Amino acid sequence: EVAWAQTADQAWIRGRGAHDPVDARVRALGPDPLEQRAADELERGASGIALASGADSQKKAQIVVGTLEELRNAYPALRLPDHLVADGFWLGSSIQQGNRLIAIAGSDSRGALYGAFDLLRSAAMHRDLRSMSLAESPAMPIRWVDEWDNADGSVERGYAGRSIFFDGGHVRADLKPVSEYARLLASVGINGCNINNVNNAAVFLEPQMLKEVARIADAMRPWGVRVGLSVDIASPQKIGGLKTYDPVDPEVIGWWKRKVDEVYAAIPDLAGFTVKADSEGQPGPASYGRTPADAANVLANALAPHGGVVLYRAFVYNHHLDWNDAKADRARAAYDIFHPLDGKFAPNVIVQVKEGPIDFQTQEPVSPLFAGLEKTNQAMELQITQEYLGQQRHLVYIAPMWKWVLDFDLRAQNRTTPVKEIIAGKTFDRPLGGMVGVASVGQNGWLGSPLALANLYAFGRLAWEPNLTVEQIAEEWTRQTLGNDPEVVRTVTAMLMQSWPAYLHYTGPLGMQTLTDITGSHYGPNIEASENNGWGQWHRADHEAVGMDRSVATGTGYAGQYPPELARKYEDAKTTPDELLTFFHHVPYTWKLLDGKTVIQYIYDSHYQGAEEAARLGQEWKTLEGKIDPQIYNEMHKRLEYQAGHAFVWRDAIVQYFLKLSGIPDEKGRAGHY
Ligand code: GCU
Repeated sequence: EVAWAQTADQAWIRGRGAHDPVDARVRALGPDPLEQRAADELERGASGIALASGADSQKKAQIVVGTLEELRNAYPALRLPDHLVADGFWLGSSIQQGNRLIAIAGSDSRGALYGAFDLLRSAAMHRDLRSMSLAESPAMPIRWVDEWDNADGSVERGYAGRSIFFDGGHVRADLKPVSEYARLLASVGINGCNINNVNNAAVFLEPQMLKEVARIADAMRPWGVRVGLSVDIASPQKIGGLKTYDPVDPEVIGWWKRKVDEVYAAIPDLAGFTVKADSEGQPGPASYGRTPADAANVLANALAPHGGVVLYRAFVYNHHLDWNDAKADRARAAYDIFHPLDGKFAPNVIVQVKEGPIDFQTQEPVSPLFAGLEKTNQAMELQITQEYLGQQRHLVYIAPMWKWVLDFDLRAQNRTTPVKEIIAGKTFDRPLGGMVGVASVGQNGWLGSPLALANLYAFGRLAWEPNLTVEQIAEEWTRQTLGNDPEVVRTVTAMLMQSWPAYLHYTGPLGMQTLTDITGSHYGPNIEASENNGWGQWHRADHEAVGMDRSVATGTGYAGQYPPELARKYEDAKTTPDELLTFFHHVPYTWKLLDGKTVIQYIYDSHYQGAEEAARLGQEWKTLEGKIDPQIYNEMHKRLEYQAGHAFVWRDAIVQYFLKLSGIPDEKGRAGHY
């Protein structure tokens, strides 16, 4: 399939130069490649910036970009801030000798580049730049995307075609898409990209592959994006020829040290390693009775002299659980394993925690582990690629769900501790932390669907500033991608905002998770696929009741992993919020929700409502015909038509299933009449 868009210009960095020409000169103060990139970008958008800053065609405007120090030397009269945080920037607009001067000062060259993109964003948003003087800095240092690309060019859970990085066991000859991707990432402040699948990672540490990966690092470096690698903890044995990979074995420790030195000889600014171990068949320290801290620290010690970090994933669980054991619970695993290790990780280890305790479902409770690690750096992992959320064939703007997690107050130590502050390192005073988004982009328009790019955009914006509203982010994306026509902006922003609730309604509500084909494609309705197997994504629906009892008193005890205030709330079905009810409790279909409906009637109503909402998305889109780029219009039109149909399939599958199982009719008489 031909890519509908494969340049960053066709994502959200577009629509430049639409203004009448204004005489604006752009100057980078230093020779650094990032500053040069910043100047190139500003050049493209110069006229827009000049106009928004009040310059007219009679007057010249000058745009200068550099580091704080360079600005101070070149323009002693400018009132610059004394200091800027790493990756941060200052933007100022003033009249100098009768002409407009727009100045961008970065803490370093990366900050300068981010400042340039921010200025362009403001101009695209038609913000008034005349009296601008603002300083910005990122909320958290780790702002990475993960790609689950395999060396053969396939992409695990990728829904946009083949890899932009690899093919046939090698790095691709043409890395233009990789540098365009880095440009896109830089435009929203993302500073790291872990390029290979967490499964099948061993081959990436082979000497030949490292040389090839160095080319990827070269392509991304001018955009301030550092490359990271997923590594296999059994590498000393798999590719190193050792008899063991026991992380405390001196030979193994020596092997990692030498290997890491070799890696940095090829890629001197590698960001670090990502590790999936003891999980879904991946080898790990448990084989030797060692802990994740033992494994993480060996890597961390080898990486430390080079300035690299280890992102050790907390996604560790047993996927051969006994379905008949009412106490078995996959949701408990991350906390049970990692909480006892708090304080045992090296300073350059970051434990990477999925946002919920299961696996990127439509809606899950927030992982209790965020509150369970006070002496350990943490990052939140979320998914940009829509594995369980319609695989880019459905429109789902996920940012509202991420925002719900970021704002969620876990009440650790009985005080206000929203997740966004924990992962930023503020709550427990940690030096490192951040957000990691699994993007799994491909050659087909990055994410396959034009509007799905709003998720990549939102991820970067939230990692930079989690206090932004998701409406504002949706609007920013829409204006930059589709133009400033108020009708278009209003319609698309509203569609994005409606899309996750709609998907939630026609798939799995009340904390039941996605109700999809859990053991296979993770696509389409398959309610029974969750049950009778060891994967632990159970909903335990039977003739009387639905949900999993995770209370301490009678269930798996998972509710007890939360700090006291939440543990009390989730312990009792009567105080558990409706949207998570069946995640925590096995409740009869006749149970009255806090909103007054019975559980069964809510299942019926929400699915009819969700299917209608999905159909409405398609109708709203149709009002945009002729008002936006026709290629994007057509791509989305066919997807939204399909989505409306598939939402009916979802609705009917789930409604019929619960009707048969419960024997309780729909009080509105819809279900069962075909
Ligand atoms: C999900 C996904 C896998 C992936 C895993 C992970 O289970 O389906 O493909 O490997 O998450 O996050 O490691």
